[in-house]
Amino acid sequence: MTAPKLRLGVNIDHVATVRNARGGALPDPTRAALMAIEAGADGITAHLREDRRHIRDDDMARLKAAISKPLNFEMAATEQMLDIALRIKPRAVCLVPEKRTERTTEGGLDVVGGHNHLAPFVSELTRAGIRVSMFIEAAGEALEASKSVGAPVVELHTGAWCHAREIGDAALAEREFERIRAAAATARALGLECHAGHGLDFDTARQISGLPEIVELNIGHFLVGEAVFIGLDAAVRRMRAAMDEGRRAAGVKA
Ligand code: PXP
Repeated sequence: MTAPKLRLGVNIDHVATVRNARGGALPDPTRAALMAIEAGADGITAHLREDRRHIRDDDMARLKAAISKPLNFEMAATEQMLDIALRIKPRAVCLVPEKRTERTTEGGLDVVGGHNHLAPFVSELTRAGIRVSMFIEAAGEALEASKSVGAPVVELHTGAWCHAREIGDAALAEREFERIRAAAATARALGLECHAGHGLDFDTARQISGLPEIVELNIGHFLVGEAVFIGLDAAVRRMRAAMDEGRRAAGVKA
């Protein structure tokens, strides 16, 4: 079985979280982005949240100017974020739901109920040459709705699966993984490029890499945490190796 190369997008949000804990300039998320690219990242992902709790506006501008690989700008569908994205012109935008009180992005976008709100964002960003993806739950309706809103790419939320693994609920983890597997196959059938992310670690990244329809993983929190122990360079290299191993073990050739 052949499949496109599986890309690794490294999310550097939590380097900014550590920086902001002291309010200074260090550690610098741009330095982390350059190091991740050096270690094999195919792109850099950063989420400019409405409350700027980690990445700030100037980080986005500096990242765009500094990195040689594609920048994936995660944002909520708001007018303010649209203006910023159109100014920064990242290679890609991933539209995500955002609630002020959440600790991280909980659940996928409501593309079904939000069609009329989301459609103009997708078309404006697309007109500007930015590839738009929708961060969605692994469900048929969300995939159909993403297609109908005009997005060429979906990113499947892997949080529920990773959480089930983390708490040792094997039956739930299996059901969640099957949901992701089915959604990835549906995405391909609909002609949507399929990405995945949220909560992935070495083991879950290895397993999900066996799904040939998935062509990009976006991984942040675990890598930044692992960097504390083994360094960012080693963490990214090990992640790349885990992904390649997962593809190989499933008999998927690039
Ligand atoms: N993909 C999307 C759309 C996200 O919102 C996030 C979290 O910011 C990630 C991937 C990465 O998740 P994690 O930091 O848990 O690896």
